[in-house]
Amino acid sequence: MRKKIVAGNWKMNNDSQQTQALLSDILNKRPQDTATKIVVAPTFVNLQSAVIQTKNSNVIVAAQNMHQAESGAFTGEISVGMLKGIDVNTVILGHSERRAYFGETNSILAEKVNTALKHNLTIIFCFGEELADRQSGNHFNVVESQLREGLFHIGESQWTNVVLAYEPVWAIGTGETASPEQAQEMHNFIRTLIKENVSADVSEHTSILYGGSVKPDNAQEIFSKPDVDGGLIGGAALKADDFLAIVNAI
Ligand code: G3P
Repeated sequence: MRKKIVAGNWKMNNDSQQTQALLSDILNKRPQDTATKIVVAPTFVNLQSAVIQTKNSNVIVAAQNMHQAESGAFTGEISVGMLKGIDVNTVILGHSERRAYFGETNSILAEKVNTALKHNLTIIFCFGEELADRQSGNHFNVVESQLREGLFHIGESQWTNVVLAYEPVWAIGTGETASPEQAQEMHNFIRTLIKENVSADVSEHTSILYGGSVKPDNAQEIFSKPDVDGGLIGGAALKADDFLAIVNAI
């Protein structure tokens, strides 16, 4: 049985007071007995307080990024040791905004994956095509390259620490959600790719999340698809009621 996961990527939003208030709302209103893993990803400056605030709850705190080096002259960056030092053991890697705005290539991401897995972090590995790729029918090739060059080098046993997040770039923040059929088609393609390149067991047990304008009114239909195991949520994660409506949609 694959893990069902709903993760909120808060991006560069919420100061410390807003973080505390949003987390308090989520903690007070969340389903206590859900099998769904609930993940929140505040900004770096609020990670430690978020870990303390969510202690002994079923809410997991994730970082939105980390550097591939373990230490050194990388101004402004955060290392895996710094995350583990504040009990953050989950990290989002390869988000399209980091690929686009910060030049994160597949090879850089492969290094980040290696560093994160070396320290036993759980990674939420993001990937997805641009609109032009889909319009030209090249979206499967793009996704396959991102996975082959960024992730497929890892050992079979390391996949237990991997969650995939397919986020078509044209759906992120646009309100243009992929249709449930588009999501299922790509998720099934990805699962088949894993089966052919890693193993049937890994393919069956790896959670693949969909991200890109998931909202309370479209989540249930997307999550109902057989190869969709949850969502990576941006804008809707910034309001507790919307985020929890999506959690409850699984
Ligand atoms: O990482 C999730 C994010 O990129 C999706 O954003 O606002 O389209 O839900 P949004």
